[in-house]
Amino acid sequence: MLLNENFIKPKPFVKWAGGKSQLLKFIRERIPNSYNTYIEPFVGGGALFFELLPKKAIINDINEELINAYLVIKNNVDELINSLKKHEYKKEYYYYIRSLKPHELNNIERASRFIYLNRTCYNGLYKVNSKGEFNVSFGRYKNPKIVDEENLKAISHYLNYADITITCLDYKEVCSMANSGDFVYFDPPYYGVSFTKYTKYDFKEKDHIELAQIFTELDRRGCKVLLSNSNTEFTKNLYKGYKIEEVYATRGISCKVSTRKGGMLEIIVRNY
Ligand SMILES: C[S@@+](CC[C@H](N)C(=O)[O-])C[C@H]1O[C@@H](n2cnc3c(N)ncnc32)[C@H](O)[C@@H]1O
Repeated sequence: MLLNENFIKPKPFVKWAGGKSQLLKFIRERIPNSYNTYIEPFVGGGALFFELLPKKAIINDINEELINAYLVIKNNVDELINSLKKHEYKKEYYYYIRSLKPHELNNIERASRFIYLNRTCYNGLYKVNSKGEFNVSFGRYKNPKIVDEENLKAISHYLNYADITITCLDYKEVCSMANSGDFVYFDPPYYGVSFTKYTKYDFKEKDHIELAQIFTELDRRGCKVLLSNSNTEFTKNLYKGYKIEEVYATRGISCKVSTRKGGMLEIIVRNY
């Protein structure tokens, strides 16, 4: 897309478990040359979305805090920046903000709380308990950047300038909006990885089976579909018949010590 010269290139505004690093380059080289709408049903921090900056897109995630933040950045960026500037980086203050109930706040305070906690919590990891409450402890940083004003404004400009629909639905509902010629990128919670608690709902084996069926349905509908997941016999079996490539990549945040050190094997599946 054309970027206004008054703005920098937007980048993800939250650290997100499963965010991409090396993998992004690999995926970038496999993007279809042309497509209509870019659809990302598990958008998270949006590493690929911000890399591509599509002109027309539907981005979705089931995490309400995250999607509220995208919407507030789009619609109320100045108020959000003012609110973020009021936060303090202190342990007691952190636990006070963490104790607030998101549903009792207005949308701007809610997004501000979410971004503040993401910037100052331990390991920058969004994780919730069984009630869906954010439960990560205070993180020790030298000087965490709570307000990245330039980036928030650039994202806001982009979300308003391009044709971007932002939804907070189960991924299946978003897939029903996909038409022939659209490009769907799936980055689900990885199979077999200990960290899958982005919301109070977990993503289990049966969900991966269902996702593979939806992949096939989108293929039949004429969509271009690309998916990343962990490299296991189970996942490879689900996508037999499609192009599967194995990649050795380190993810942004992984809970497994072994994988944080050395990276892990992932698969990239596509139908084109
Ligand atoms: C691996 S992360 C995506 C990471 C993302 N690609 C990034 O760059 O940060 C998986 C995402 O799926 C979301 N999710 C989990 N179950 C979902 C569901 N049933 N429908 C939609 N989103 C879901 C989680 O909230 C999480 O943000």
